[in-house]
Amino acid sequence: MFNDFKLAEGRPVYLQVKDYMKRLIVQGALQADRRLPATRELAGLLGVSRNTVISAYAELEEDGFAYTVQGKGSFAAAVTPVRAAEEESGSGCAKLDWSERFSDYALLAEELDLMKRGIRAAKGTISFTSIAPDEKLFDLDSVRRAFSDRMAVEGHVLLNYGYAKGYKPLIDYLMDYMARKGVDTRDKDMLITSGFTEGFDIVLSAIRKKSGRVLCENPTHNTAIKNLKLHGLEITGIPMERDGISIGGLEQALAEGEYDLAYFVPSYHNPTGIVTSLQKRLELMTLMNRFRIPVVEDGFNEELRYSGSHVAPLAAMAGAGNGVIYIGSFSKVLFPGLRVGWVLGDRRLIGTLESVKRARSIHTSTLDQSLLYQYLHNGNLEKYLRKARAEYKRKYELTLACCRERVPYSALSGDGGLHLFMAFEQGFDTRKLLAACSQRGVIFTPGDNFYTDGAGGNTLRLGFSRVADEDIRKGIAIIGEAAYELMKGPDQAEAAQNK
Ligand SMILES: Cc1ncc(COP(=O)(O)O)c(C=O)c1O
Repeated sequence: MFNDFKLAEGRPVYLQVKDYMKRLIVQGALQADRRLPATRELAGLLGVSRNTVISAYAELEEDGFAYTVQGKGSFAAAVTPVRAAEEESGSGCAKLDWSERFSDYALLAEELDLMKRGIRAAKGTISFTSIAPDEKLFDLDSVRRAFSDRMAVEGHVLLNYGYAKGYKPLIDYLMDYMARKGVDTRDKDMLITSGFTEGFDIVLSAIRKKSGRVLCENPTHNTAIKNLKLHGLEITGIPMERDGISIGGLEQALAEGEYDLAYFVPSYHNPTGIVTSLQKRLELMTLMNRFRIPVVEDGFNEELRYSGSHVAPLAAMAGAGNGVIYIGSFSKVLFPGLRVGWVLGDRRLIGTLESVKRARSIHTSTLDQSLLYQYLHNGNLEKYLRKARAEYKRKYELTLACCRERVPYSALSGDGGLHLFMAFEQGFDTRKLLAACSQRGVIFTPGDNFYTDGAGGNTLRLGFSRVADEDIRKGIAIIGEAAYELMKGPDQAEAAQNK
């Protein structure tokens, strides 16, 4: 005994000694009323100071795991050891077969969980799979300042329960932020959620499924597809064109059936990176209004515009109408680790969403919300965006140039944001390309993940935000080389590339 004690860094040593002794007592290795080693002796055995053991014993006593007999020392208290409890319950350790007990929802969630199915990147792999922000850009000093500023103002309040609807100063800030995007916020309200993903899930939970069908762009955000399927919705994907969703395709779908909802990503769409043109936005909204279909607008990437003029969100085009539910998030623009998003919509709708939110998680972490609020209030967003946009624009242009120079694609899209989308000629298989590239230390996301109908086998998404310049050049050269080989066979590939 006492030879398996290991010190971890950071945690006070006396607490580590206390935890260690507590485990021995609870597990029955030190039985009730057995004398604990003298403090000097235990200090020697564990390689810590005697004062440390004295403090640890005092803590053990405080928690009821030990007691002192004057003049005799410390003793283990009578607690029900885990093993004794197991024996008393008769059957020993219960071993349930959990796989037989999962709901259909859980089984489908697991089946659709791409994170569990993606290829594992070995160390040193050049990975174009992520579209997360580059953490090297994060302005930690401003975040630290925002945190201490807010804690100084109302730290005690922030650590208590907050409101289901969200942290009021943040809601006020974001309402104003949305008004500055041109949204008519009269008769609208806002719910703060844990990112876009929870906001979308809450909206889908709240909407009655009458037709059980939903419209969206094809391809689209994979997490959204997953959520739509988990809510049992049948998805009708409308093809994307170079300037956004196909209006003809949309008209055809509307002529063919009814829909409970439409989900659109009009700016820097994931995965195509396309910004839907103003003209198409107007046409789309005209159709949605005519058919009275609620629109969920995903505005996740709107701020990452590198060139061209600002295009108003659908929520702004809806004017005083209440058919658009705008879901915003700073996950790409700022920090995805602060799980904060917002749902802006009709006041009556938000009132009900608030109850759904309360039933699920009470509220999004007030610490996260208030930190974000103070960061925004201190004027950091504008400063950070200038830096982030400049850096991502540079990477975007580098990635674009490398693709144009090295890869035999047939179409390339991406008007901004953190990724590009590439299509090869029909019949080309980007999963085979991925297998060839991963052997050479490069990975990307095969495009079929984003299609609602199993198509897109000839496409791929390249996320560049977290890839170093040198790796962008090297990685794309490898993708190009492997693509030429697959198209022409290895011998002719070299000749084709040297042309
Ligand atoms: C289309 C789209 N919407 C929203 C998000 C952000 O989701 P969240 O706010 O839950 O991090 C992403 C992230 O990749 C996305 O691609």
